[in-house]
Amino acid sequence: MERTLGIIKPDAVSRNLIGEILALAEKNGLAVRALKRLHLTKKEAEGFYHVHAERPFFGSLTDFMSESPIVVVVFEAEDAIAKWRKVMGATDPAKADEGTIRKLYAQNIERNSVHGSDSPESASTEIPYFFSALEIV
Ligand code: RTP
Ligand code: MG
Repeated sequence: MERTLGIIKPDAVSRNLIGEILALAEKNGLAVRALKRLHLTKKEAEGFYHVHAERPFFGSLTDFMSESPIVVVVFEAEDAIAKWRKVMGATDPAKADEGTIRKLYAQNIERNSVHGSDSPESASTEIPYFFSALEIV
């Protein structure tokens, strides 16, 4: 079994899409092992997305991620990382497959409703960014 970090981003939480998004994840075999709602500070958003610090969209992305509450989730499944990214769809909703979360709900390439770890290495740093070992059961 593999674990991945999922985030329901501010654009989706503020539109009351938490339930719809978790339902799609669960229907696709991703089991929730930990879950919480929180409001990131700008600094916490910068820490989470530090790998993108040199990208032109870093300032705008971290403003967005700290504008209002998010929901962070640990999903578990066989191939959880790839499975969750498939359910999410492509970063740009215009390129996302039918039925994916981003095709259904994303507003644009930045306000794209969800995050998912992109490798076992990123999952192993992103999960502890939000959860202690005791919170994942
Ligand atoms: P994520 O990390 O959030 O799961 O998304 P991702 O892997 O599909 O995309 P990534 O390249 O890691 O980009 C992280 C987030 O930055 C915003 N973004 N904006 N304006 C732009 O061109 C642009 N490109 C990316 C999106 O919110 C993207 O999910
Ligand atoms: Mg990414």
